[in-house]
Amino acid sequence: MKILFIGDVVGSPGREMVEEYLPKLKEKYHPNVTIINGENAASGKGITEKIYKQFLEWGAQVITMGNHTWDKKEIFEFIDDAKYMIRPANFPANNPGKGIIYLNLNGIEVAVINLQGRTFLPATDDPFQKADELINEAKKRTNIIFVDFHAEATSEKQAMGWYLDGRVSAVVGTHTHTQTADERILPEGTAYITDVGMTGPYDGILGVEKEAVLKRFTTSLPVRFEITKKGKKQLNGILVTINKDGKSTKAERILINDDHPFFS
Ligand SMILES: [Fe+2]
Ligand SMILES: [Fe+2]
Repeated sequence: MKILFIGDVVGSPGREMVEEYLPKLKEKYHPNVTIINGENAASGKGITEKIYKQFLEWGAQVITMGNHTWDKKEIFEFIDDAKYMIRPANFPANNPGKGIIYLNLNGIEVAVINLQGRTFLPATDDPFQKADELINEAKKRTNIIFVDFHAEATSEKQAMGWYLDGRVSAVVGTHTHTQTADERILPEGTAYITDVGMTGPYDGILGVEKEAVLKRFTTSLPVRFEITKKGKKQLNGILVTINKDGKSTKAERILINDDHPFFS
């Protein structure tokens, strides 16, 4: 079982990279499941129904979210019908949407869980406790459990990796938009990476126009952040190979940009 995960897709440059490279990645790696983090897919802030459907058409099976889940008002109109979208499971229980999904692949079930960290991010319920709860539920159905942990602090992400080692197939970090080179298989068989990185502009700052971010840093004046629409683009992802017991055997980082070209 191979699961391909594509990190935070940012705006139209990110969507263009998914459209162009997802078919190529599928041809090269033959993943059984493709997951996309879509929290920044609509101009960097949230997701629309049209984009959600586009991702499914392009070949994703699950869309995960994060702290930008509610940025586009229309999300409230469609999230409860968006069968293949999950948002952080540790959002307050009264929030719309869901935080876990089960896919059935010819009789083999795969559970995908989205959680959000609490360090330097808005208040949510405890992601560790929520993970316990959802894993206990998922284990009744499958050993193949994939976790997107959307968090800022590297320490909190490493903590989640170790906390879930041996209980889930993979813990991959999202949110910081910068890929870390620490992919590994933890001792009990959980694939781990602190952050998968982002998919979108390559010459901006975390996807945002660098001039605006520089102005904020150098003047502390209020600045409107826009997505870098022109110029180079990148795609960041990870491919996890999982055996039938739900243990991972391989974690391969995927990085496509002008400095790291894609070879089919
Ligand atoms: Fe993001
Ligand atoms: Fe985020």
